[in-house]
Amino acid sequence: MKAILTMLATFLALATVTTAQAHEGHKDDMSDAEMVQMEMHEADAMHEEAADTMHDPESMAQAHPTASGVVERQTPEQALEAAIAENRLTSAGDFLGRLHPIAAHFPVALLLMATLAEILLALRPALGLETTVRFLVAGGAIGALVAALLGWFAAGWRLSDKSQTLELHRWNGSAIVGVAILAAWFAFRTDRRSGLRVTLAILAVALVIQGYLGGEMVFGPNHLGLE
Ligand code: HEM
Repeated sequence: MKAILTMLATFLALATVTTAQAHEGHKDDMSDAEMVQMEMHEADAMHEEAADTMHDPESMAQAHPTASGVVERQTPEQALEAAIAENRLTSAGDFLGRLHPIAAHFPVALLLMATLAEILLALRPALGLETTVRFLVAGGAIGALVAALLGWFAAGWRLSDKSQTLELHRWNGSAIVGVAILAAWFAFRTDRRSGLRVTLAILAVALVIQGYLGGEMVFGPNHLGLE
């Protein structure tokens, strides 16, 4: 009990130091359109800087044309140094948020495999996959809890977002944790197979949507090219 309280206190303390801006801009309360506009401005500024350099003989002396014809002021080593400096951590919460993309893949894989194992078990009871399902659902529920906590650090601790994508991802992800814990509870009862199947079906759909929304935030709108 003491250990759980200490962990909770640590998380709350870390939450208060996550006011720094996320390096990807997700902690800023910006709409999807504003985020795209910001990224386009940054790209434009880089192009303008490159064009200025071409017209300035002094800068031309240090200019480095790349294979694509874009002129850079910095050497590759300087650019690498600048990127490393820009990505430096601002707080412990900032670090936890950056772990979200690593953790996010565990619940997706484990809970989808649990669903597959449960389908196989329904078709072929002789396979005896009950223990496998239990293992996958329990691991998936713990994975979802960890991923969602780290997600809150990545996104910032607020209840609504200007970005519809982030808001949907935030609440779908948080709901996934609740449903996954319920599924794990069902998996450890022998008389709750239909409850387990319903929760796994909900989770399979919610996790695919969650992964898609995460991709939209990291790789940009229409990242699968379907629209
Ligand atoms: C089970 C729960 C969750 C899953 C499976 C999940 C999954 C994902 C995935 C797959 C990505 C894309 C990662 C990549 O390709 O690099 C992502 C990104 C992201 N997620 Fe989640 N997520 C969950 C919960 C949450 C929650 C609850 C929040 C916010 C409160 C959140 C906030 C974010 C943010 C801000 C990003 C963008 C990360 C970045 O720009 O570095 N996630 N998520």
